[in-house]
Amino acid sequence: MTLTKRSLVTIDDLSNGEIEALFALADEMSDSMDAQFGVCRGKVMASLFLEPSTRTRLSFETAMHRLGGSVISVADARATSLAKGESIADMARVVGSYADIIVIRHPWEGAARVVADYAGIPVINAGDGGHEHPTQTLCDLYTIKKERQTIKGLRIALWGDLKHGRTIHSLAYALAKFGATIHFRSGPGLELPDYVERKLTTEYTGRLERYDDVTGTGKERLFPLDAIYITPNEPHQLANIPAVSMQIELKTGIDALYVTRLQRERLSPADKEQELKEEYPVVDKKLLKEKEFERTLVMHPLPRVDELAYEVDADPRSMYFKQAVRGVPIRMALIASLLGTREVSVPEEDNPFIRKVDYPVYRRGFGVRCTNPGCVSTQESEARYIRPEFRIVDYRPLTLRCAYCEHEVHPPYIASSDWHEGKLETKKYHGAGSQWARRIKAENLIIFDSEAKAEAHGFKPGHYIKQRHQDNGKKAGQGE
Ligand code: NCD
Repeated sequence: MTLTKRSLVTIDDLSNGEIEALFALADEMSDSMDAQFGVCRGKVMASLFLEPSTRTRLSFETAMHRLGGSVISVADARATSLAKGESIADMARVVGSYADIIVIRHPWEGAARVVADYAGIPVINAGDGGHEHPTQTLCDLYTIKKERQTIKGLRIALWGDLKHGRTIHSLAYALAKFGATIHFRSGPGLELPDYVERKLTTEYTGRLERYDDVTGTGKERLFPLDAIYITPNEPHQLANIPAVSMQIELKTGIDALYVTRLQRERLSPADKEQELKEEYPVVDKKLLKEKEFERTLVMHPLPRVDELAYEVDADPRSMYFKQAVRGVPIRMALIASLLGTREVSVPEEDNPFIRKVDYPVYRRGFGVRCTNPGCVSTQESEARYIRPEFRIVDYRPLTLRCAYCEHEVHPPYIASSDWHEGKLETKKYHGAGSQWARRIKAENLIIFDSEAKAEAHGFKPGHYIKQRHQDNGKKAGQGE
């Protein structure tokens, strides 16, 4: 498939072959930088950075200048009509008529998808809240590939804020689809979100193991017992017994240690409380003396705060400044391919590390909303036109994945649109965990996140819910 006119919203938008083709183009461009001037002559890139950025914004803008194109930019939402309550869809339509390509960073999760839906030109996600950051992943993978020649079969440790770190999420998917084994070690209360874990083990062929399945490794300091690792599930797997494979993994050493800062700006009050109680993993000279890290690439998307000591900078294993340098040729290759000024086209091929899962889509526009306060679909300015959309990823318990931010919601009530044979007296709502969840056909399913919403749509409580109301009423009566 050709990359021309496409958008990059999530790292899933690129196949492994396309990623490799971008790397080849980035190599070619960095070997002949001067010859690239003119590749995007006459093209305009809109650089919309509505959250702080140094590397990502400047490397995108440098990339476009080096290609001979021009850049229009916004680096402060307060200077735009967004501050007057304009929706990002309206902004996208207008900017889409001025520019040829948009690069957007935004604090709301799913914002880049909305911009891509409305702009009518290629859109690149430069970070949408705590969701994804696919171009950072391209820089990360490019660095690993340059240093280790391959990604398949490597052991990569991802450390730090796994919950809010958008670089972590995009990188974890990419590593899974290239067949690497990922060791996760989070800061306190900052574990991988459920939706990321589910994707790694369902849409990718990851098999999840917890370190507490394994005893007596003596490595609890590096990977505490609540840490997890995900290894590709292949028929020729060396060892299928977790304890054995984990020991082999650690003995052979970690190929790359990807450190991330605490995303303080995204912490909820509950996260903040937790933060005071426990410590965050820190990478310093002493840690890198451990045998497992003897030949490890030390990586970081930057900026760093306290989690990566400056004393490590002179160590030849440190890769973080190289990652940043490589951001320019990678972004040049990406911009030129999406604009079609350099044709990148690779045949579609089956990836053994991806499972095709067809989750039913749920899109009724009423009854249930995403519960993630950072999701674009829940913002006042955007809720006017965004119709909630979900994938039903599980029935037990009923689990919906928001199509914008991908967070999972567990709505408690369901009903059927054919009211069980169309009889008005059967227009009932039921518990999402009841037998009805499986009996109602997917196309008839109606989901509610509250009883009030079900009743507002003319549904009456089903048998068990009525009984529960009566029991609660009795209990309240007894208490009087
Ligand atoms: C990252 C980001 O913005 O998510 N930085 C970057 O783009 N290089 C990481 C971070 O801010 O911690």
